[in-house]
Amino acid sequence: MTIRVLTGITTTGTPHLGNYAGAIRPAVRASEQPGVDAFFFLADYHALIKCDDPARVARSRLEIAATWLAAGLDPQRVTFYRQSDIPETTELCWFLTCVTAKGLMNRAHAYKASVDQNEAKGVDPDDGVTMGLFSYPVLMAADILLFNAHKVPVGRDQVQHLEMARDIAQRFNHLYQGDFFVLPEVQIEEDVATLPGLDGRKMSKSYNNTIPLFEGGAKALRGAISRIVTDSLQPGQPKDADASHLFTLYRAFAQPDEVAAFRRDLESGMGWGDAKQALGDRLERDIAPMRETYNELMANPGRIEDILQAGASKARKLASPLMERVRDAVGLRTLGAASAGAKAGGKKAAAKAARFVSFRDEDGSFRFRLLAADGQELLLSESHANPKDAGQLMRRLQDEDVELREQDGQVHVILQGAVVARGVSEAGRIRQALESLRQE
Ligand code: TRP
Repeated sequence: MTIRVLTGITTTGTPHLGNYAGAIRPAVRASEQPGVDAFFFLADYHALIKCDDPARVARSRLEIAATWLAAGLDPQRVTFYRQSDIPETTELCWFLTCVTAKGLMNRAHAYKASVDQNEAKGVDPDDGVTMGLFSYPVLMAADILLFNAHKVPVGRDQVQHLEMARDIAQRFNHLYQGDFFVLPEVQIEEDVATLPGLDGRKMSKSYNNTIPLFEGGAKALRGAISRIVTDSLQPGQPKDADASHLFTLYRAFAQPDEVAAFRRDLESGMGWGDAKQALGDRLERDIAPMRETYNELMANPGRIEDILQAGASKARKLASPLMERVRDAVGLRTLGAASAGAKAGGKKAAAKAARFVSFRDEDGSFRFRLLAADGQELLLSESHANPKDAGQLMRRLQDEDVELREQDGQVHVILQGAVVARGVSEAGRIRQALESLRQE
């Protein structure tokens, strides 16, 4: 089974070396793994919450897109798009907003931090807090749930947002009695490099200690390296490699044998000037070819636009059928057309009865589940290439006598000798649910 992995990048800044080693490089590598269906998007709606400088938002979208592509992201393989090109995002965001408890949002760390600061300053607790900031987690939930992502790789600061996304998904599924949304799981990258900046603290724009990735070319990269703080040991004096940020930076890019050689050189008295030269050379080996692609892309923004548009239409092919279901579920239906919900007599009747729920699997095949009256999953059908076959089978399960065979802790549903569905619940419950459908 393929795992759908999705993550968003807020478009407010220019990626630096720390972003590359800590986020971009591991994400691109992970997207190349077999069995991974990766979704990466530019979270430019989120950018508006943090930044009201249009030029900066526009520039950052371009730079971040070019950086990810230059870093090897393959837009054929992954779905790479801009959040603002997916109108379904804001539509879903509203539906989710309507089921999200305000109290849940009150507990969001980012919002609470603003309130705490305001209280410390003695001003109104909500001073400077926009509805965008307050509802930030709902928009993020919409990003994730719209594509039924299984795993969401993020930094630790985002863990609470993932919990909220699960909470919101569960609430919607429960309220509207269906399996509309997968409950996403957070994925914390444990062993990715956190690079030290020029002063040895974590490399971060807010510390003003970053090493540029592509901006300013090789000159800016070398210039920044020359400003890395070292101790005052002279050439010839042995250096403590493990205490040096230079060494940490080198290690984040070099192979083990290169790292061992660099360590030996430092320990046997290499001067800091030479060490900086060696670090610059090693970084350039990785970065120069990517920088070339980056510069080419930056000179041809139309090409990036085309790639992002293609990504958006790929993404919308998935988003639009889901939104059809969601609209129908909440009651926004074409007038006069019978809908799944209406046929079942609306939400109340649907809530009382066992029911089949059909869905489209990641591989494009058609399947369905049998859910008990309380929403518990009883059966999962085999895959069908054709939705009609799946529909027909649903009817037969309802109308014909089926055999339930217990095997390896699973219940197999057998029709004319073939396993057509599998369940995890007891045979008795499944039988009961099927019978209740027959009486309808
Ligand atoms: N909030 C995330 C961050 O600041 C960015 C983001 C927006 C995101 N939507 C997302 C991450 C959806 C993962 C999934 O890092």
